[in-house]
Order: sequence, then C-alpha cells, then structure tokens
Amino acid sequence: MAEEYLSITGGRPLRGEVTVQGAKNSALPLMAAALLCDGETVLTNVPRLTDVYAASRILNQLGCRSHIEDHTVTVTQKGLTGCEIPDADMRQMRSSVMFLGPLLGRAKRCIMTMPGGCELGPRPIDMHLDAMRQMGAVITEEQGKIICDAGKRLCGTRIPLPFPSVGVTENVLMAAALAEGDTVLTNAAREPEIADLAAFLNACGAEISGAGEGTVYIHGKPGLHGTEYCVMPDRIAAFTWLCAGAATGGTVSVRGASPPDLESSLTVLRAAGCRIGICGDRIFLDGSGALRRVRHIRTMPYPGFPTDAQAPVTAVLALARGTSMIEETIFESRYKHVGELLRMGADIRVSGSAAVITGVPALHGAAVTAPDLRGGAALAVAAAAAEGESRISGLRHIDRGYENFAASFHSLGCEAVRCGLH
Ligand code: UD1
Repeated sequence: MAEEYLSITGGRPLRGEVTVQGAKNSALPLMAAALLCDGETVLTNVPRLTDVYAASRILNQLGCRSHIEDHTVTVTQKGLTGCEIPDADMRQMRSSVMFLGPLLGRAKRCIMTMPGGCELGPRPIDMHLDAMRQMGAVITEEQGKIICDAGKRLCGTRIPLPFPSVGVTENVLMAAALAEGDTVLTNAAREPEIADLAAFLNACGAEISGAGEGTVYIHGKPGLHGTEYCVMPDRIAAFTWLCAGAATGGTVSVRGASPPDLESSLTVLRAAGCRIGICGDRIFLDGSGALRRVRHIRTMPYPGFPTDAQAPVTAVLALARGTSMIEETIFESRYKHVGELLRMGADIRVSGSAAVITGVPALHGAAVTAPDLRGGAALAVAAAAAEGESRISGLRHIDRGYENFAASFHSLGCEAVRCGLH
C-alpha cells in the first residue's frame, strides 16, 4: 500500500504569513454539543481534519444529520435514534469521549468503549465516569462496553474535580446544561476552549457562568435550540507556525489568532530570544537573533505552558545555545518525538518526565516518523530548520490536527511537499 510522506527541504529562514485554522480542540466538543440542541446548528470556521469527519460520522450514526461543506458543519437534530458510539469510532480518536456528556444529557443513556487517540501514556476516563456518576448515572461494564444510564433524569450537583481535566470539564458542562437543577463544578479546567464551549451553549439557551475560571455554575434547562457559531482560532496551530519561524531564524506572521490565549507560549519564545509583536489578531515573530536556552519549562493546565506546545518548542530549543529543561507534568509518554529528533542530529536526553535539551548549531535532514499529532508537528518544525531534505511519514497523525499542513508551511516560504511512497 502506498504511504504518503511530507518532504521538507530546510535550512533557510522562513518568511511569510499564514492564517490560523479554527481550533480542533474546540470544534470537536462543539460538534458533540450540537447533539443537545433541537433544530439546526451551524458551526463555522471548522478545520477540515480527519477527527472532524469522525465526529460527523458519529453524529450521523446517532440519528442527527451532519453535513460538512468547506469550513461549515451543519447538524440537524430531530430526535436521536441511538445512544451507542461504535467501537471503531471510539478507537479512532480520544475526543469521541466528548459524546458521553451530551448523550447522557439528551438521551439519559450512553454506550461506549474505551477511546483511542494519540498514545501519550495511559489516558483513563475514570474522572469522566465519576463526574457522570455524581450526577446520578449508573455505570456498568459488559463485554468491554461501558454502559452509562441516568434512568429518567440527570441531576445537577456539586462536582469537585481531583484534577482540572479539559475533557471532563467539557463533559460536565454539556451534561449539566440539560440536567435537573444546578451544577457547581470546582477545580474546573480554564482552557480557552472551555469558555468557547460555554459561549456556544449559552447561545443555544443554556445558563452557564464562570467558564474559563476555576468554578463553573450551570443551571439546567429543559431544552436547547440550535444556533450559528464561529469556532475560535487554534492556539496550538498558531504556536506551531511561530515555532517554525523561531527554529529557522525567520520572520513570520500568523493572522486570525487570539494572542491572549497564547501568552504562556509566547513568553517562552521571548525567553528564547525571539522578538514578538502583536497587532489585533496578528502575531509577528522575528527570530533573526540568536536562539538562547530556556532554563526550565513546565507543562501545566491553562494558563500554564500547554502540553500540546511541548513537542514543537522542543524542536526550537534543540537549536538554542545552551541547555534547556522541559518537564512534562500532564501526560506520561509525551516524548516520542525525541527519538526522531535525535536522528536529525539533536542532543536531547529524556529521563522520566524531564527532557534535557543541549542545543546544537544545526540539524540535518533525515527520514523520520510522526509518533503522534504534536510530535509530528515538532518534526516538521525541525525539518524546516535542518540542512537538506527530511521525509516525515506517519502523516495520519498530523492530519488529525492540522488542515493542509504542507500548504501552511508553503505560505511561510518553506519547501514542503506531500508525496506518495510506493
Ligand atoms: C485535552 C486536549 C488535548 C490536550 C489536553 C491537556 C481536546 C480534544 N484535547 O485532552 O489536546 O493535550 O487536554 O491540555 O481538547 N485523566 C485521567 N482521567 C480522566 C481524564 C483525564 O486520569 O478521566 C488525566 C489524563 O490521563 C492526563 C490529564 O488527566 O494525564 C489531563 O487530561 P485532560 O485534561 O482530560 O486531557 P484531554 O481532555 O484528554
């Protein structure tokens, strides 16, 4: 079977401008949330990604009509015909777990299996299930299927989260929007995508306040209606393009971004010696100065430095003068890109949750494989800076999160071509 690869010929400073896509991590929960709404929901600025197509398929299987045209997803809901998410879809992406809250809210029942997605170490769903239990769902397991049943009603309650999980916060918001009574969620995740989901649900008639802060209040409603909503910009994609500029010593501009959402990531690039300018929805990066080490970066829940930005910044620091240290606190196995970066001449040692990066003067092109979504993006960033040609395979990972990656790199002036392998 033919496998595609991305050919990148690097070694020159990137110069150009790219428009950032809609956020994958917002579009997927919003599509799941459309299940809660009667009538038509129109989502615009949706990135064209394999995970978006998978979410659309799940909606159709549950009895909605979901249609994708260009960057618009239209979901029409006139009553669900099913409450089971097929195993094949659950395995394809982690975000399929986002259907748990909406199905329980709407149908009071959900049958699913363990979700797949990027292999970043164990990714349990215990907190999702616990939160739904606290709202009255009874959860049993039969032959690998997880059966969640709320009987006739789901009840609002006080839910303290043991960790501010993004997915669990989103599931609670969606389930509680149609539950009976009030829900108070404490230690909630504060990622900007949570506020985007709440803004969408409120536009559909929900009553949610505090989203984006540690405590979220949800007053359950008997029903929600569809609306038209524009998905927020993708902060991780924006950061990836900035990293490509930084690693190559280039000058790039990212437009259509939401700069405040990137603050902790921009702080790290500034510390590495890049000059950053912001004007409205544009972020300019001048990476023509020498790259310096960043002593210690710790991935943390928002507003801390995002775990999704860890791999791309590793590629930048691989070329910085001095020794940098990254500590990954969110996921266990999120250094799979490191082995591939070594093939390109990087000097990085991983020990447990820490990566020690000793900058090298230059990287060289190599044949490498994307181990997961952001790890794949990191390889492309490194390849843009490396002397000669790199061939990146495993593009299915990159396609889960970046719409037309090669074209975006092209807009930045990088020689990037998607090729078939026979
Ligand atoms: C979301 C993002 C993902 C990002 C992550 C952390 C989406 C679609 N994905 O993933 O890109 O990397 O936030 O910012 O928005 N955990 C449990 N039990 C659970 C749930 C989570 O132990 O039931 C653990 C996870 O294994 C991980 C940590 O909690 O160690 C954070 O996970 P979480 O915030 O839930 O990430 P996701 O929502 O899966």
